Amino acid sequence: MDRRAFSFLSLGLLVGAFLASLAYAYLWRNQSSGGPSDKLVLRLAHAMPPSSPSHLGMEFFAEKVAELSGGKVEVQIFPSGQLGSQVDTIEQLQRGALAMVKSSTGELEMFADEMTVFGIPYLFADEEHYWRVLNGEIGEEMLQKANDVGIHGLCYYDAGSRSFYTVNRQVRTPEDLRGMKIRVMSSPSAIAMVNQFGASPTSITFGELYTALQQGMVDGAENNPPSVYDSRHWEIAKYYTLDEHTRLPDMLIFSQPLWESLDPQTRQWIDEAAKESVVYQRKVWNDYVQECLDKMVDEGVQIYRPDKEPFKQAVQPIYEQQKGTAIGDLIERIQAVEDPQ
Ligand code: GCU
Repeated sequence: MDRRAFSFLSLGLLVGAFLASLAYAYLWRNQSSGGPSDKLVLRLAHAMPPSSPSHLGMEFFAEKVAELSGGKVEVQIFPSGQLGSQVDTIEQLQRGALAMVKSSTGELEMFADEMTVFGIPYLFADEEHYWRVLNGEIGEEMLQKANDVGIHGLCYYDAGSRSFYTVNRQVRTPEDLRGMKIRVMSSPSAIAMVNQFGASPTSITFGELYTALQQGMVDGAENNPPSVYDSRHWEIAKYYTLDEHTRLPDMLIFSQPLWESLDPQTRQWIDEAAKESVVYQRKVWNDYVQECLDKMVDEGVQIYRPDKEPFKQAVQPIYEQQKGTAIGDLIERIQAVEDPQ
């Protein structure tokens, strides 16, 4: 080999080695398993738009993590289903391909049966009861219910209560739901509830729902006021009936395999930031609910507050069906959580 050929070869090798080291460094940054001197990048996915109170809660969380870790840990948020539907992203998280997801407990039922309990209609007496349960022993237990399938729960975010909204006519009584096609999440409890009301449940991802309503694939859906407002579903569905059938919390979840690879200090930063973000998210949520209802009224949405009693009666068979099951036991424990006053 002459000298020139040799120097080309060595240059090629050098460039190759440099590129490989860049790729390696990039992977380290993105694997969320770096050592103390590496920057840890945690990707967090969710389905809602950036204007949503839960997104604001997550931004607060990301800022807190950066602050507590002195910039060693960075949380990157991907809203609006950019990394896939809620269920898709939970699957990525289970494999460790994604660090974090904010999901409704409704779709977590697909991964841990016990989550079904949150989807039992009219389970919580009121908002205070709901937070007493979530902040108490049962809430703590439920955060870790899906550990064995790779899901580590960090905290709950407020997702208010869900009600029906429809395209062609107002639902005033449970009978009005009969025969309607209602969009639900991939959630067995939501499917059971809609069936119980005599309507037909259709599972559609949140990202596809606007078009589904527009094209008449479904007659309506059910959700909390911020989600209906932020997604602009009200442009198509002008009737909102505040029957408030379920209070489904959102959960901020972490990949269990990645969690196990983190050092205790990093875990503590993440836990602390999560806890503080809950306080912030709940505040933003509370202020925003009425604002969304008012804005929808301004846009011509008809808001109806029905007598909830017939709706409660209509779903009683669900309680009967759960008696004696693990969910039935959880229902009883939740109902027994008392007001300390
Ligand atoms: C709520 C919940 C979301 C969920 C959505 C839905 O907005 O916070 O996590 O995706 O409902 O109905 O799909």
